[in-house]
Order: sequence, then structure tokens, then C-alpha cells
Amino acid sequence: MPTVQEVRKLLEERGAVLLAHNYQRPEVQDAAHFVGDSLELSLKAAEVDAKIVVFAGVDFMAEQAAFLNPEKVVLHPEPLSRCPMAAMLTPEVVKEYKEKYPGAPLVVYVNSLAEVKAMADYVVTSANAVALVSQLDADTILFGPDRHLAEYVAERTGKSVVPLPELGHCPVHLAITPSDVERAKREHPAARVLAHPECVRAVRAMADFVGSTSQMVRAARELGAREYVVATEVGLLHRLAKLGVEAYPASPYAVCPDMKKITLESVARAVLEGREVVRVDPKIAEKARRAVERAFELLGVSAPWRRS
Ligand code: 13P
Ligand code: SF4
Repeated sequence: MPTVQEVRKLLEERGAVLLAHNYQRPEVQDAAHFVGDSLELSLKAAEVDAKIVVFAGVDFMAEQAAFLNPEKVVLHPEPLSRCPMAAMLTPEVVKEYKEKYPGAPLVVYVNSLAEVKAMADYVVTSANAVALVSQLDADTILFGPDRHLAEYVAERTGKSVVPLPELGHCPVHLAITPSDVERAKREHPAARVLAHPECVRAVRAMADFVGSTSQMVRAARELGAREYVVATEVGLLHRLAKLGVEAYPASPYAVCPDMKKITLESVARAVLEGREVVRVDPKIAEKARRAVERAFELLGVSAPWRRS
């Protein structure tokens, strides 16, 4: 297994940049040039100068980096690192709901595949879903694939948010229970609780802050508590520890096996062998990119891949 320093050296020799999601293995985070949440990584892939972007995250993240930056080579070190929730929303389900709710805007969570994003009006992440839906001039919104995030958006905006499919979920966050949070709070009575919106309502209700992975990191610094209980995938604890934040998992079993498939070895292999190059059908890419851009336009964010 190569060391963090060896991987970093290899990346630099090849002019490649390594972007890693907050749930990646600690050593992969340590080797990365940038670690962040889905929204930050999408923006970063466009901002970096390098022609080769190695993306340490699950399939939909690498795919989004590729369709937003068609002039860059995006390498996914482990093509079998796939988000099961993204696979829960198919184009057939989208068609069915569009027919059932004609005229309702379709907002798709970043955790979905490009062919579904291409059918969407807007693509959001857990960092901006509430802000975008609250700006929409519609009371009924189709939202998928995470029904828990859909429910959270409905709570926060007061709109009718229809989840598609009906039971779309993240298996990792679904397994974090209110009794896990209670136990962790008993063990760490001074801790404040941070939760990802993919958690069930009862867990979200116990949280002092709900937000995307990087928003949780910022909240931990801003809330100023001595310690935190974190209701999300355990990879975030490494990021928090590096920042000197004392944090404990709501559940030590909240491990995303797909995020953990990427290793230093697979990153090194990806760079040496130039694979797996992420390819998206250009017609799908164009439509999916527009759905991301429409969300950015509505939120007043300038898209870095459009800047000259
Ligand atoms: P973030 O966008 O909050 O990083 O979350 C991605 C994800 O896969 C959560 O399970
Ligand atoms: Fe998908 Fe859940 Fe893993 Fe995030 S934690 S990548 S939503 S399975």
C-alpha cells in the first residue's frame, strides 16, 4: 500500500488533483488536495487548474464532476463505489411522477445519476435544497430520491414536497436511530448534536444543527461546544479531528461501504493507469448541466465552469 506522501508525490508528478468527499477513508482525505461536501466538490472540480481530476467519492459525484467539466479528465479510482440511494431513482419512476403531477417542478438531489438529473428542473445538494425550494414559485414540488431530505425540505419550507420514489433512502443514515443518539448523549452529556438531513425525522429532531457534511463542520466551529455527537457517516470524524473538534459518532456502525471502497492503492492505480475515465453521454451531460445551472442561477451562485 503506498503512503500518503507517495500518493501526493505521484499526483503532483502527473499534474493531477485529488478531490475527496468527507466520508472517504482518513488516509485518502489526508492525500487529497481538497476535502469537502458534494456541493463544494462540484465547484472545486471546475475551479482547479489541473486537467486531470481524481475523484474520491461515489459514482454520482464523479459523474457530476465529469459532466460539469467536459474538458477535464475525471478519473474514478473505484467504479464499483456506487451510492445505493442514487440507484433508487430511475427515469421510469421520474416519468410516472411527472405524469401524475403535471406542471410540478422536479428537484433532484445530487445523489442521483446523470440520466435522472437530465430530466430535472433543478439539481440540489443537502447544502442548498431548502434555499432553492423556498425560492420556487410552486407549492407542490417533486423531490427525489431521498424521502428524508424531502421531508426535511417540506418541514423547513412549508411546501408540499412529494418524494419519488416513495421510499428512497440512504441505508447508512436510516440505520442511525434515536436510541443511538440518546446513548451517545448519555455518554457525552455536554455534547451538542449535529445531524445530516438524510437521517430520519426523530433523529433530526434531536439535533442542534442539521445540514450537509461541510455545514456540520462549520457548525461545530461556530456553536463553540466542547464536544459533539455526529449523526452521519463516520468519515466526517476524521475531518473534525483534524480541525481539533472533539466529536463522537451517534453510531459507530454508520459506515458507507461504497465510500470506503476507494483506497490509497486504488488512487495510485487510477493515476498510473489513467482509469477509470468517467464518461457521460454528451446529450445527457448537457441537460444535467443545465439543471445544475438553473439551481445556481436561482440561488445567485455563479457557476465556475461558465467563467472564462
Ligand atoms: P453531503 O453533500 O452533505 O456531503 O452528503 C453526501 C452524501 O452522500 C450524504 O450521505
Ligand atoms: Fe449514498 Fe448514503 Fe453512502 Fe451517502 S452515505 S454515498 S447517501 S449510501
